[in-house]
Amino acid sequence: MKETIDALRREIAAALSDAKNGEDLKNFFAKYLGKAGSITALMKELGKYPKEERPAVGKLVNEFRDAVMTDFKAKEEEVARAELAAKYASEQTDITMPAKRRTRGGLHPTTLVREELCNAFTGMGFTVYEGREIEDDYHNFTALNTPKDHPARDKQDTFYIGEDIVLRTHTSPGQIHCLETMKPPFKVVMPGRVFRCDDDATHTPMFHQMEGLVIDKNLSLCDLQGLLDTLAKSMFTPDTRTRFRPSYFPFTEPSVEVDVSCCECGGTGCRLCKGTGWIEILGGGVVNRRVIANCGLDPDEWSGLAFGAGLERIAMLKYGVNNIHILYDGDQDILRQFRK
Ligand code: DAH
Repeated sequence: MKETIDALRREIAAALSDAKNGEDLKNFFAKYLGKAGSITALMKELGKYPKEERPAVGKLVNEFRDAVMTDFKAKEEEVARAELAAKYASEQTDITMPAKRRTRGGLHPTTLVREELCNAFTGMGFTVYEGREIEDDYHNFTALNTPKDHPARDKQDTFYIGEDIVLRTHTSPGQIHCLETMKPPFKVVMPGRVFRCDDDATHTPMFHQMEGLVIDKNLSLCDLQGLLDTLAKSMFTPDTRTRFRPSYFPFTEPSVEVDVSCCECGGTGCRLCKGTGWIEILGGGVVNRRVIANCGLDPDEWSGLAFGAGLERIAMLKYGVNNIHILYDGDQDILRQFRK
């Protein structure tokens, strides 16, 4: 028996030191210590020995079994510790690593300009009116003193979507809706999308305008000048100057084109302002008496001031963008720079 045990002891020592994980240990236990294991088999052999030898041999087997059991338990603990250490190592987080950046959304330059303008105007008592993008010919043209054969219609390449139904070419039809529905005196701004069949470095088929309309008694061009000057200073810088140039629009009389001193050079002349020191930002004027009469008001009693500005144009000037398509390509690396 002693030799059998010694041989088994060597085999077991090797098997135990080879065991690497819980699975190996389970197999080890079944092979040596379990019901059908080799050590249990030794116990069963006791019967073969003469009666007087049995206690001594039994003791030998028992001691061997206990020793193997102790080694097994120790190994079991060792494996469990190693497995836990491996699990911890694999789950370790380096809290000193820089965190992943969350990308934050931001407002589009055109939206920023629209909000700034709306803020400036509501601060001066204006309300904001959102018109409709699909207009009839009457509101988009005729009521604005631009009848069918009028040459000014050619300047605005129109998308017709039905007989006398158009995608509005400007926000000016909003003037007619306001005159038709609001009780004078009133002051409104109307920001929104407009559509023209036009596409180059400074034009896109869809762009944004903001219309302004003031209806009150005894308004003159001087009032418009004061209003737009205040606006230009709040839009650009406090030292921005404005000037009016005579112009023509069917819906205003007199009509003006409004320039601001160049935001790039301050008025000394540069490439942006083509050496003139001035940049055109909007059109406006005193509302044509015919427009007021078209909407059922008495032009001898009520007068009006109107203006219309392109929001992309202002955004491009303000943020130094030289191609309008940059505003529409959706390139995040570019748009991110304008975020407040
Ligand atoms: N609607 C004109 C355009 O799109 C801009 C404009 C000019 C609007 C003069 C006005 C105005 O209200 O008075 O070109």
